Amino acid sequence: MRVLVVGGGGREHALCWSIVRSPRAEKVYCAPGNAGIAELVETVDIGAGDVDALVRFAVDARIDLTVVGPEEPLVNGLVDRLQAAGLRAFGPTAAAAELEGSKAFAKELMNKHVIPSAGFRIFDDVELARKYLRAHDSYPLVIKADGLAAGKGVVICRDADQARAALETIMVERRFGTAGNRVVIEDFLVGEEASIMAITDGRVILPLPSSQDHKALGDGDQGPNTGGMGAYSPAPVITPRIMQQIEATILVPTIHAMHREGRRFTGVLYCGLMITPGGPRVLEYNVRFGDPEAQAVLPRLRGDWLTILDRAATHQLGRVEFDWDPRPALCVVMASKGYPGKPVTGVPIHGLTGDREESLVFHGGTGRREGELVTTGGRVLGVTALGSDLPDARVRAYRRVEEIRFEGAHYRSDIGLKALKHLGKA
Ligand code: AMP
Ligand code: GLY
Repeated sequence: MRVLVVGGGGREHALCWSIVRSPRAEKVYCAPGNAGIAELVETVDIGAGDVDALVRFAVDARIDLTVVGPEEPLVNGLVDRLQAAGLRAFGPTAAAAELEGSKAFAKELMNKHVIPSAGFRIFDDVELARKYLRAHDSYPLVIKADGLAAGKGVVICRDADQARAALETIMVERRFGTAGNRVVIEDFLVGEEASIMAITDGRVILPLPSSQDHKALGDGDQGPNTGGMGAYSPAPVITPRIMQQIEATILVPTIHAMHREGRRFTGVLYCGLMITPGGPRVLEYNVRFGDPEAQAVLPRLRGDWLTILDRAATHQLGRVEFDWDPRPALCVVMASKGYPGKPVTGVPIHGLTGDREESLVFHGGTGRREGELVTTGGRVLGVTALGSDLPDARVRAYRRVEEIRFEGAHYRSDIGLKALKHLGKA
């Protein structure tokens, strides 16, 4: 098969890494890719947001399957456009991608189909939202911009002043543009967060092993939110019993609801969950693989990944053979100075040697300048290791991280510690 992977981060590097292992992968392209991806597959200089150029390339290069990494082209209809051109794609159509593209749509769907989530109100009139806040006296409260805001449109408000300020930022100042046409005001949930991703053809659902992201910049979950500073898989907070609840009360009803709404969902559904004392609740849906979660989950797959993705795209996911490596995996993200604000880029990277059995280095933001490997973004590298147990994976990942150097590099030193507490090892 001839495959095109769309995107250029650590997630896409992990996707390419898994796809090239398939005996069915004849030729793999990635647009735009990065320096690490270029060592593995042929990169194409088309941005992940350039839907027209991507469709043109897929047609010209006779691509059999396009695998879309980021949410933006999905929400903008890349899959619809490929299908209209007679091509197959792994990922939801624009109508199905609204699960991530509109938080109000997602909340209304959950409400209608009784999928456990936080209580909420939706406002598209700032005056009504202000009035609601004036009458509200229980905090914290969560205010979310409706549309895509690169993960930045969510504000946890500790008191009424913060809530008023967040509302003005989103709806009046329009910090996130039209994403702030509407807001969702949501109850604050208490518990531990974890992620479940599931591959689906719109009917059959294949849950992948659980994982946990580390969203805050600093150790102990301190500092600003980022795209994710590390992950591990599996997440012990998701016990087999909780996994059963997630499948029965969240995954199955969501996929069924989408089908009933005439928005059949194919691709990967990512559920960001809060595991509360009352059971798992949905914090958010994403319509793509999580990053860095994919970097921790995909290296554990034993099986033909390309066949799984292709079967999902062609609505034939039943009876797919695959298995998971029982060894846990842990991924540490190395970020640039200035991230998550304005990262310093163009910095040379040293200490990267080739692939090793025990640890993998996925590139997130790298490029070449006169042949030299340099940083090009905020999240530069994701270093993943598998281990006999989680402490072992942790040691291996950090050992590799310490060999890699670039000026201003920073990373969290506590990835996986929450899991070790569950396992009684910390
Ligand atoms: P989201 O992009 O909707 O996942 O929100 C980003 C982060 O905000 C989540 O990963 C949580 O840490 C936090 N968050 C979102 N909604 C809630 C909620 N209802 N209760 C508590 N924390 C939340
Ligand atoms: N790591 C969270 C996300 O991919 O949205």
